[in-house]
Amino acid sequence: MKKMLLIVVLFTMSQIIHAQDAKMNAFIASLMSKMTVEEKIGQLNLLTPGWGIPTGSVVSTDVESKIKAGKVGGLFGVIGAEKVKQAQDIAVQQSRLKIPLLFGSDVIHGHKTTFPIPLGISCTWDTALIRQTAILAANEATADGLNWAFSPMVDIARDPRWGRVAEGSGEDPFLGSQIARAMVKGYQGNDLADKRTLLACVKHFALYGASEAGRDYNSVDMSRNRMYNEYLPPYKAAVDAGVATIMSSFNDVDGVPASGNKWLLTDLLRKDWKFNGMIVSDYTSVNEMSNHRLGDLQAVSALAIKAGLDMDMVGEGFLSTLKKSLQEKKISMADIDRACRKVLEAKYKVGLFADPYRYIDAERASKEILTPENRMMARKVATQSFVLLKNEKQTLPLKKTQRVALIGPLANDKSNMLGTWAVSGDPQMSIPVLQGVQSKTSSSTYIAYAKGSNITDDTALAKRANVFGLRVDIDKRSPDAMLEEALAIAKSSDVVVAVVGEASEMSGEAASRADITLPAAEQKLLKALYATGKPVVVVIMSGRPLVLTGSIEGAAAVLQVWHAGIEAGNAIADVLYGDVNPSGKLSMSMPYHVGQIPVYYSQKTTGRPQDLNNKFSSRYLDIPNEPLFPFGYGLSYASFEYTDLKLSANTIGREGAIKATIQLTNTSKVDGAEVVQLYIEDKVRSITPPSKELKGFQKVVLKAGESKMIEFTITNEMLKFWSAALQYDSESGEFAVHVGGNSRDLKAAGFVLK
Ligand code: BGC
Repeated sequence: MKKMLLIVVLFTMSQIIHAQDAKMNAFIASLMSKMTVEEKIGQLNLLTPGWGIPTGSVVSTDVESKIKAGKVGGLFGVIGAEKVKQAQDIAVQQSRLKIPLLFGSDVIHGHKTTFPIPLGISCTWDTALIRQTAILAANEATADGLNWAFSPMVDIARDPRWGRVAEGSGEDPFLGSQIARAMVKGYQGNDLADKRTLLACVKHFALYGASEAGRDYNSVDMSRNRMYNEYLPPYKAAVDAGVATIMSSFNDVDGVPASGNKWLLTDLLRKDWKFNGMIVSDYTSVNEMSNHRLGDLQAVSALAIKAGLDMDMVGEGFLSTLKKSLQEKKISMADIDRACRKVLEAKYKVGLFADPYRYIDAERASKEILTPENRMMARKVATQSFVLLKNEKQTLPLKKTQRVALIGPLANDKSNMLGTWAVSGDPQMSIPVLQGVQSKTSSSTYIAYAKGSNITDDTALAKRANVFGLRVDIDKRSPDAMLEEALAIAKSSDVVVAVVGEASEMSGEAASRADITLPAAEQKLLKALYATGKPVVVVIMSGRPLVLTGSIEGAAAVLQVWHAGIEAGNAIADVLYGDVNPSGKLSMSMPYHVGQIPVYYSQKTTGRPQDLNNKFSSRYLDIPNEPLFPFGYGLSYASFEYTDLKLSANTIGREGAIKATIQLTNTSKVDGAEVVQLYIEDKVRSITPPSKELKGFQKVVLKAGESKMIEFTITNEMLKFWSAALQYDSESGEFAVHVGGNSRDLKAAGFVLK
């Protein structure tokens, strides 16, 4: 009976969708029949007037006259509902066909309520919470006139030298896919025409995170095996979740730049994955194919549209050359029609033809943006994103009566905590750590502050980090004078809290670093603080996993807080004082040394696995193979014990399932949350498998002393992989199951797939 009902519901839903599609198709066909070739090409043109943060060297010019002439399909980087309205007015009042514009923006980790950077958010391992961040961001962004977010960024990233690791969810395809799905669902909701939802844009398709040597915009070369098994899954998850738009990446894939790569955009994305939304290029990435040496602007623009790209971001190659290519028969009218239809469909789906001003609502903007509730949400997410790396002798949590010396260039800083891509974030509205700590403690408690050092004394680096405003403020005082002041307050305190790390623009786009240790000025400060003999709690703000070897050995506790967003100071104080017990887990390994990179938990075993007693094994002479902190790692003020891993059977058939259970006990006196992780290891495979792969996780809250049985269901689906012939299936044989609180410390059991 229930099944019948489900079938009827599904059938009715598909009929409704069919009818809606037919209506949209008829509307667009009728509109396109009125359009000239120039107007169709105009729709493919995405410009930025440069009122936001331009990420390339080009900013669009004559935007107003181009809109009037029907030469613009959408704009991005227009900040504020009023400006959006001005631009939309021009399109719907002064252009011949009155086609409304799309308004996009890099809403990457919140709109005005800035959340932690995505890498931080991913360390919550809480997909329901992550979805909430996207819902809230969409609500604020749409109230501000926007209908398109250039997010989520789902590029798997295993090289922390690459600054853009800040924008993604780390190294793992399974975790990355779960987060991709949550973000897309959060932004798009159930109905794109709802004025509180917007078009998501999954990016950067594809493999951008694998740029050689971690240098931004660099070449990528990867086997299909690795691509299908490890790098493509999060994009695919976003497509399966119904993402409406996709952005092509800057890099080449198998020798062809993504923006002109037919295999990638058409064969894989449209044909295999059945993606039917719109594909936009990255910022001037069509033009840049000339630098990739694929020909002049006309040639690369033709290549892009023929490959399946629909919209050209900023470069105007489509605008300036497609008509010529059409006349010369280098492209067909069908190519232009396809791309134009995709852009118009996106506009139709968000309801712009029904109401071009649907997303402009000054009243909603004044009531729903940056509300106290939204800020509470940012604070909560931030507390969940912190990863406690070290906590000797229970230094943390602090007691509210302790005399604290709060020291460091990021301890009283408002501009860096927002992190990269906070295009609409206002540093003036953010809470620095000093303020957070002060509001946690009574006014009679000794809380002394000193800057202690600059983030860096390197003026050339500072200049590069200050392109969007002052982030690295080199003090007028000498480093020695700053240090002296810091040591004086340290000496009269019970505990030192040192807040150090990277400025926001030391990570993110075009911010690769070869040396990812803490800057020398901060290292010197930390060493001097350790030498005082006071317990030192190191709080690290950064946009990437840093190499901390040599910098934290003297610390009593280390809390990794990333760039934690607008409520960073309050959230850090919540965790330092134990009002929130940390539960974040690393979504990316923290290297021991830059020379190991890429270092990630699923690395293959090799034919000569590491054996410290054997010279001829896969290892370094001078450093360990292992990272300093592994993927999945993170401490709590509570302690957890894993016992009694059991499987319900020791064989599994293709259709069957087995249950893995493990007893998790909070052995401490405080309540806490633990992310229980399930990894599967394929013992025999026709191609070399990853050493183990994350296949499940659960965030579990346990009261002090409480014990719970945690259960995972293992199915054949979880054992599948892409074979050498690119068939997706499992292979019979032995498997191991590993369960634990990080990718290193695990309990194991085994089973056989029949
Ligand atoms: C970035 C994209 C971004 C775009 C628009 C590019 O440089 O790679 O991630 O969405 O600029 O700002």
